[in-house]
Amino acid sequence: MAAPVDAATPSQSFQIRIRGLKKAFGTHEVLRGVDLDIERGKINIIIGGSGQGKSVLMKHLMGLLKPDAGHIWVDGEDVVGLDDVALNRVRRKFGMLFQYAALFDSLTVEENVAFPLVEHTKKGRAEIKKLVTERLHSLGLRNIEKKYPAELSGGMRKRVGLARALVLEPEILLYDEPTTGLDPVATKNVDDMIRDISHQTGVTSVVISHDMASTFRIAHKISMLYDGVIAVSGTPDDIKRSRLPFVREFVEMSGTVRFDGEPSDDDGDQDDDEVSTGEF
Ligand SMILES: Nc1ncnc2c1ncn2[C@@H]1O[C@H](COP(=O)(O)OP(=O)(O)OP(=O)(O)O)[C@@H](O)[C@H]1O
Ligand SMILES: [Mg+2]
Repeated sequence: MAAPVDAATPSQSFQIRIRGLKKAFGTHEVLRGVDLDIERGKINIIIGGSGQGKSVLMKHLMGLLKPDAGHIWVDGEDVVGLDDVALNRVRRKFGMLFQYAALFDSLTVEENVAFPLVEHTKKGRAEIKKLVTERLHSLGLRNIEKKYPAELSGGMRKRVGLARALVLEPEILLYDEPTTGLDPVATKNVDDMIRDISHQTGVTSVVISHDMASTFRIAHKISMLYDGVIAVSGTPDDIKRSRLPFVREFVEMSGTVRFDGEPSDDDGDQDDDEVSTGEF
């Protein structure tokens, strides 16, 4: 593990650096010393089984949970131990698409997406309305401003959640299981959306996923949380080559990547090539 002092130095390559992060709930040690670097402007995917602590890890990034030990530097600033005022400033860098989209059911689509602008800016109603509509249109959502979340499909709800996460133009976008519960077509659409946003805005993306097809389609970097630590981290090809049994099991069980000891190159290689060339 790198010394904290190295990780604290602001880095062009890494926007977020995590060292020695520990978190227990009672006697249940969920994070047992997580070390992870999040690459600036790239799609960073965190994989791992259910209950391994992926959502807990993500909540620490925004200061929604306090660790028992360890450090998280965002652009060289240690967010652990910041007071609420400083934390709110750092949080402005983040947009988050929560697991299950977490829209406000009693608010319309327009009110949901406008919410961060109303809360955090002094923009007037007309400007907010314009920004909301533009953001919805850019995600392919038209004429749904007056609808309520319950009237939308799962895929549309995810897009509305994403519109809300993007409306303050964050530098870092966190996605917790963006494709859970979606059919393959809607999943592909969400993947495309994540990649398009990454291309268009240069935002740093951190995506939690247990959908390996999606992961190999869009990731620049994949890190696996296992038994409270990041057990393996690297490019999609690195992960495919891993000989660690639990990595192989996880990837093979997804049924999307054939894994025969050699890196497979017949698993949607078009997309893989696009990603691994480091094109963006
Ligand atoms: N606020 C909390 N209080 C107590 N235990 C918690 C809390 N939040 C999470 N946990 C526990 O921490 C563990 C990890 O939870 P987490 O939600 O991070 O898992 P996950 O990897 O995101 O799983 P999934 O893929 O199912 O979403 C679980 O055992 C969970 O019960
Ligand atoms: Mg989770």
